Amino acid sequence: MKYVIGIDLGTSSVKTVLVNKQGDIVGEATASYPLIQERPGYSEQDPEEWVKGTLGCLKELLDSKQAAAEDIEGVSFSGQMHGLVLLDEQNQVLRNAILWNDTRTTKECREIEAKLGDSLLEITRNAALEGFTLPKILWVQKHEPELFAKAARFVLPKDYLRYRMTGQVAMEISDAAGTLLLNVPEGAWSEEITAAFGLPAGFCPPLVGSTEDTGTVLPEFAQQSGLSPNTRVFGGGADNACGAVGAGIVRKGDALCSIGTSGVVLTYEEDKSKDFGGKVHFFNHAHPGAFYAMGVTLAAGYSLSWFKDSLAPELGFNELLAPVGSLPPGADGLLFTPYLVGERTPHADSVIRGSFIGLSGTHRREHLARAVMEGITFSLAESLALFREAGIEVDRMISIGGGAKNPVWLQMQADIFGIPVVSLKNEQGPAMGAAMMAAVGSGWFASLKDCADQFIGYAQTYEPVPANVETYSRLFKLYQQVYAATRSLNEGLQEFRG
Ligand code: XUL
Repeated sequence: MKYVIGIDLGTSSVKTVLVNKQGDIVGEATASYPLIQERPGYSEQDPEEWVKGTLGCLKELLDSKQAAAEDIEGVSFSGQMHGLVLLDEQNQVLRNAILWNDTRTTKECREIEAKLGDSLLEITRNAALEGFTLPKILWVQKHEPELFAKAARFVLPKDYLRYRMTGQVAMEISDAAGTLLLNVPEGAWSEEITAAFGLPAGFCPPLVGSTEDTGTVLPEFAQQSGLSPNTRVFGGGADNACGAVGAGIVRKGDALCSIGTSGVVLTYEEDKSKDFGGKVHFFNHAHPGAFYAMGVTLAAGYSLSWFKDSLAPELGFNELLAPVGSLPPGADGLLFTPYLVGERTPHADSVIRGSFIGLSGTHRREHLARAVMEGITFSLAESLALFREAGIEVDRMISIGGGAKNPVWLQMQADIFGIPVVSLKNEQGPAMGAAMMAAVGSGWFASLKDCADQFIGYAQTYEPVPANVETYSRLFKLYQQVYAATRSLNEGLQEFRG
């Protein structure tokens, strides 16, 4: 039997999965690493921790003897997006990586907008957000000029890990899409942008595709991990692209709803001219020549865990949510907006905060819990509405994460989105997407589509109930007014925040 390994390099941990030719996971290992938060808004990591954690996981997988090293044909990656890893001429790391959730770069975002004007959206197809990589590069350029003078190139987290594994510096395209340096429709670095910010020649490394062969495992890495030096290493993808591939989002008409701490709605797209005016992210997909549009709700699952931890810490999620299903859509006149940490889509706003609207003396805890679930889903439906406005037809939603663990929530998603919602048989997230890239790269399948047909099984379809769809469409119109109605109140409250 032959195998591949998918490595999901996340923000708090790395997860590795060993997968056979049927798509079964036969081994799994994880290792966590710390965030370095020296000041409010700062979020960094030591790239060496990623290498150490991954080596530990690989060793654990190999030691478990589920597969002999020479039977592992390929390895590939999923990576936390946007993180800046600066390398010198000898490819030594110059400073801690500045991560996607670091928010120190608001000024740099405004500078990018001022300098590039309309070209920013035309070229990158994305708005300048603090999380993206170019603002981080400009921050280092401005605040650490001596260090920046030594920077020969930059890579993203999983690309750094691949470099350490193979000795080849490259950047994979679905991840490069989140740097604000890539011409997304053309899939090439933008010389206009690198020139505008005085970035040296060669600062952006060669681009590779997700299933592209990037070499074999270096002898030293092979020795430390237990991998064979003959195992081939493939490009990989951004975590959201890998999550999409791992859920089979490789065809027009399919969309993904992923509710974790944050929530994402993402659609597969082949038309590179689709214009969202920067309201949603538009990135290159792992499937060659394809794209995905993505909206993000910052506090999705986080809103529900906040609610449970603050108001029902003694209950488990199942217990808390058990009575929710017997309440009607709209929780008897209660709306919730999930802006607990600000919002990204459709309102990129760090000041806005959440609210319950319509709270009455007859509401009990389960009404509030239902309103929280509905508010999270409405927020994701706002991203879906933007896709539809741009002419994207979504036929069905594949639901993963915490939102897919509860049948009431799955039905609620079908009723709010107004389309069938499908859960997965064996949900494995981005690590599975990464393993699929290694499987295609190793020649097991002709394409990610073919691999998805073999590896991904659907569990259950939730059809929208027409009466509920009608009720929710009226509630959604009210929900959409809450942002504007509470914006200035939240501005006023800002000075009282702890
Ligand atoms: C995407 C984003 C996050 C990170 C999390 O734009 O910022 O999804 O990729 O790892």
